Amino acid sequence: MTLASIKIQAQNYNTMTKNPSIEKKIDSLLSIMTVEEKVGQMNQYNGFWDVTGPAPADGNSALKYEHLRKGWVGSMLNVRGAKDVRAVQKIAVEDTRLGIPLIIGFDVIHGYKTLSPIPLAESASWDLQAIERSAQVAAAEASAAGINWTFAPMVDVTRDARWGRVMEGAGEDPFLGSRIAEARVKGFQGEDLSAVNTIAACAKHFAAYGFSEAGKEYNTVDIGTSTLHNVVLPPFKAAAKAGIRTFMNSFNELNGVPVTGNSYLQRDILKGDWGFDGFVVSDWASINEMILWGHAKDKKEAAQKAVTAGSDMDMEGYVYIEALAKLVKDGTVRESLLDDAVGRILRVKFELGLFDDPYKYCDEAREKDVIGNAKHHEAVLDMAKKSIVLLKNDNNLLPLKKTGQKIALIGALASDKSSPLGSWRIASDDETAVSVLEGMKAYQDNELVYAQGPKVAMEQTSFLQEVKINTSDNKGFEDAIKAAKTADVVVMVLGEYGFQTGEGRSRTNLELPGLQQELLETIYDVNPNIVLVLNNGRPLAISWADAHIPAIVEAWQLGTQTGHAVAQVLYGDYNPSGKLPMTFPRTVGQVPIYYNYKNTGRPSNKDNNVFWSHYVDVENTPLYPFGHGLSYTTFEYSDLKLNKANYAQKEDVKVSVKVTNTGKVTGKEVVQLYIRDLVGSITRPVKELKGFELIELKAGETKTINFVLNKETLGYYNNQGEYIVEMGDFEVFVGGSSVTTLKSDFTLE
Ligand code: BGC
Repeated sequence: MTLASIKIQAQNYNTMTKNPSIEKKIDSLLSIMTVEEKVGQMNQYNGFWDVTGPAPADGNSALKYEHLRKGWVGSMLNVRGAKDVRAVQKIAVEDTRLGIPLIIGFDVIHGYKTLSPIPLAESASWDLQAIERSAQVAAAEASAAGINWTFAPMVDVTRDARWGRVMEGAGEDPFLGSRIAEARVKGFQGEDLSAVNTIAACAKHFAAYGFSEAGKEYNTVDIGTSTLHNVVLPPFKAAAKAGIRTFMNSFNELNGVPVTGNSYLQRDILKGDWGFDGFVVSDWASINEMILWGHAKDKKEAAQKAVTAGSDMDMEGYVYIEALAKLVKDGTVRESLLDDAVGRILRVKFELGLFDDPYKYCDEAREKDVIGNAKHHEAVLDMAKKSIVLLKNDNNLLPLKKTGQKIALIGALASDKSSPLGSWRIASDDETAVSVLEGMKAYQDNELVYAQGPKVAMEQTSFLQEVKINTSDNKGFEDAIKAAKTADVVVMVLGEYGFQTGEGRSRTNLELPGLQQELLETIYDVNPNIVLVLNNGRPLAISWADAHIPAIVEAWQLGTQTGHAVAQVLYGDYNPSGKLPMTFPRTVGQVPIYYNYKNTGRPSNKDNNVFWSHYVDVENTPLYPFGHGLSYTTFEYSDLKLNKANYAQKEDVKVSVKVTNTGKVTGKEVVQLYIRDLVGSITRPVKELKGFELIELKAGETKTINFVLNKETLGYYNNQGEYIVEMGDFEVFVGGSSVTTLKSDFTLE
């Protein structure tokens, strides 16, 4: 029973102590700026004409150019390369009255040119150091190309694999998502934002974009207070606490109010409760979209609502630049709102050191030296190996023997050098990933036969086009059958085409696309000794494969070094250690499916009747649960202990557990701790992740792992948005996935 509760005071998380000398400079700059110049700082344009060429004479580009020269542009996105950035920066600094430098933004989502795994894949590593390092590499390359601000990390919690952007986030869990958000912020921003190899990060999309109804892109979001505060906001809050300098709002509405115009989120929570003193950029033209949502009747009203709600910068929407100065002059919008927004933008520019040297990121020699250097390739290979999840390995089919075997490698994705780069790869060149075929060829003592099988997509498509999946051209089946027939082991690389996930790529079907399921079943009939390597940007529904295929490896889209990472795992040179950051459903009909669900009032079938919370045609459990992932060794958990049985309000709950490597090789394991708060004034999930540790154990070795639970982890947000810790009984679970049953309990009294 809930006896009492401790209410935790709203905390001001502004960890960046304001620098008084910067604040002074902001004030003096604001005091000499015209209203138009202030609005200019709040205006962001997309990259335009060949910036180093002649100035454009007409059209939109000419207008942007004119605005840039007047000092009416505060930021640009998608201008990249030291030379091009220098060219636009020169106009801002030398041609305008005040010479305020531009902040240059870009979607550095999983690397700049040298690509890391997609963020969902990286999250499967649960390796915070590796994730931080990956963001560091991205920042080093992007900053060498003139960029000083990334639109990452995306910290949207996502429970619906139909949504294409699940590839861009850290998966379904707010606790894991928060730790990963912190690691990414640290990686991008480093200790010193003014260093030449660090860039400002951006927590997006604020907020709840990941909860679009039915997983359909840009759709309505309607969620309750409890989900908002307990599931959606924690990673944003963690990013703010880690000192992130910018936020991006988004295209969705939240409970009827487009978030771009949402004061509660941006003013009350972000800039109020959390004390965030950086700035908020809109998503691409999301201020205008409030008109289409039916929340503003025209651009003027959209501008007024957005600025009032705390949207500081208008991304390529032309709304602020067209309407805001007039609105201030006719008294509709207070100039102090502009001062607040501009102050925030200038603050970040000062912190980046742009006023000291606006060209600091524009050194072409450094650009050549840094981008694509060997260390970066090493880092993304390391990250790629750590991101792979071994889903199934019957009879230890993996690792493959290194000699004396005939291996048939099958699947168009196995030789694809673009799909493994995933979505969001604007600065990276197509065809630059090491393919699985190339990676496998590095192991020369086996006989390797490659058969492509049918194409996955009908044609190479660009990021801007819909992908046309091949559903009819079955050329390639015969060769694949022939290769499989005489092989000792068949490795099949199947999954999603590179641009099948990402923005605008929602799917209603989560099965293997196109002819690939048919190919898998055809090959199985010929030779069932199959290792299925999945390349995909979201959880897939692969129930047939799970029931038939002995070994399944989740290899996502692993970036530039994909092929080497996959081959090293298949051959056992890297023992897989990844764990799923998102639940894999049995069928799309179970989606959204997630591990931290509520018990409901009818959780089980004790009376053997039909009136309980279930489906009639598929069981409730997922195919692979959150946190699942195997290794080439095995681990045993024992001696789960708590230091006491009853705890007073503010006491630490100390938990320890023994983990033993019971197999024959060294391996890594993510030890996961979950709690269940048995009775709450708001019902609590059946399990909630509250701690994890990535450990390495030699064969036969045992380690004791310690966790501490305290008021930061034992509480939750009530429906007033207040953080509370309630007294009562808790269960603690520790193990290698979210379905662990090793359990103890305690009481808070
Ligand atoms: C996306 C953002 C991205 C922006 C700029 C939008 O379409 O939603 O995540 O940062 O474009 O490229």
